[in-house]
Amino acid sequence: MTLLTFPKNFVWGTATASYQIEGYPLADGAGPSIWHRFSHTPGNIRGGHNGDLACEHYRRYPEDIALMKSLGIQGYRMSTAWTRVLPEGRGRINEAGLDFYDRLVEALLEAGITPYVTLYHWDLPSDLQDMGGWTNPAMADWFTEYASIMFTRLSDRVNNWITLNEPSVVMDRGHVFGQHAPGMRDIWAALRVAHNQLVAHGRAVRAFRASGADGEIGIALNLHPQHAATNSEEDRACAIRTDAYYNRLFMDPIFKGEYPAEALDWFGEAWPNIGPGDLDEISTPIDFLGVNYYFPQVVAHKAGQGALHSEVVRQPAPHTDLGWQISPEGLYDALRSVQTEYGNPKMFITENGAAFDDYPDSDGVVADDARLDYIRAHLAAAHRAISDGANLQGYFLWTLMDNFEWAYGYDVRFGITNVDYTTQKRTVKRSGQWYADAISRNGVTDA
Ligand code: FCB
Repeated sequence: MTLLTFPKNFVWGTATASYQIEGYPLADGAGPSIWHRFSHTPGNIRGGHNGDLACEHYRRYPEDIALMKSLGIQGYRMSTAWTRVLPEGRGRINEAGLDFYDRLVEALLEAGITPYVTLYHWDLPSDLQDMGGWTNPAMADWFTEYASIMFTRLSDRVNNWITLNEPSVVMDRGHVFGQHAPGMRDIWAALRVAHNQLVAHGRAVRAFRASGADGEIGIALNLHPQHAATNSEEDRACAIRTDAYYNRLFMDPIFKGEYPAEALDWFGEAWPNIGPGDLDEISTPIDFLGVNYYFPQVVAHKAGQGALHSEVVRQPAPHTDLGWQISPEGLYDALRSVQTEYGNPKMFITENGAAFDDYPDSDGVVADDARLDYIRAHLAAAHRAISDGANLQGYFLWTLMDNFEWAYGYDVRFGITNVDYTTQKRTVKRSGQWYADAISRNGVTDA
C-alpha cells in the first residue's frame, strides 16, 4: 500500500446545495422556488417528499459547521437560495435572507473553513419561471442582478464563486425529460435553456470583474464521459453526438467561444437564436472550472431513439444503488480531457460521491464501506490525473450529509454523515471518519 500524497495546497472539501439541506424554504420572507412548487406537486418526487424540512440546516447550521470542523474539512461548497435574497427573483431585496448567508459565512470563517459559494443550484424563483424561466433571454440580466447583490454583500469574505451548477442537467432533466423542476418536456426549449444559462454565466462573470471584488469565479459542469459500445462507425458517431450533447455543448462555448458543429446539425430548427456577442460573453475567461463527476456512459446507435438516436448500454457491476456505474477511470478521463482539450485550466472537483442505502447499526456505526471504497478509488484516480499534469487543486465530496436528493427525495443517501430525519440526529459514517483521516494525511492509500 502506497500513500498517494496530494499537492501542498490541495483543498479538501465537502459540497451541498441550498434546497437539498436548508429546509424552511419560505422562512423570514423568502419566496417560493421552482423546486418548492415541483416537490409540492403530487407525483413528482418519490415518496411524496419535499424540501420543507430537509436537514433543517437553516436552523442547525452551527452544528453542521462544527461537524465539518471536527472532520478537518477545509473548504465548503454551498449554494445560496436566490429566493431568500430576492423573493420575486428581482427587484425587492429581502434583508433577512442576505443576513442568513452573512451569518453562515461568518460561522464558516470562524471555524477556519473557506466558503465556495454557488449562486445557482437549481432553485429558481417561481416568479421568474412564470415569465419563462431559463427559456427567457432576460434571465441573463436577472441572474446578474442577483449575483451582483451577492458579490456586494459577501465578496469581502467570500473569495470563491461558482455561477451555475450543472447547466446540462437543468437542460436535460429539467426541460427535456421533465424529472426535475420545472418539469418541462420540450426539446425546442431545451437548447434555449442551455444558451440562456451560458449567457447568464458569462454576464455574471463580467459583473464580478467589473465589481473589482477580490477572488475567483468559475462554473460547475458535470462531465459525463461517453464511450461507443462497439467500434462500428455508427456507434462511434453516436458517442460523438452524446458527448457533444452532455459535455461539449457547455465546454466548447465557455472555453472556445463556439458550439459543437454536430449539435447544430441535429438540432436544426430547435437551435436557438444566438445574438451577436453572445459567444464572446459566454467565453469570458473564468478562473477555474468546477468538475462534477459521477459516472461515464456507454452508448450504441439506435435509430429513432430520442433526438440523439442513442441507447445506453448497461455495463457489468459494480454500480451504486442508483445504478450508476462505478468507474474511477471516468474521472481520470474527464480531468485529462479538460487538460488536453481545453488548455488545462485550474480545476476543482466540485462534486463526486456515491449513493448507498446505509444506516446506523445497533452500535450506532454506519459501516458504509462501499462509499468509502468509491471515494478512495476516485481520489486515487484524481491523484493520477494530477501526476499526469492535470491542474486539479481541490476535491469537494458530495456530500456532507444525507439530504433531499431531488426526484428521489430522502430515499437516496449520498452523505458521509447519516441524517435521521425524525430526530435530525447526525451520525458520521465510516466514510466520513476515513475522509477526516485522508485530510489529516493529505493523501489516500492506493488500495
Ligand atoms: C448532481 C447535483 C447534486 C446532487 C448529485 C447527486 O447532479 O448537482 O445536487 O444531487 O448530483
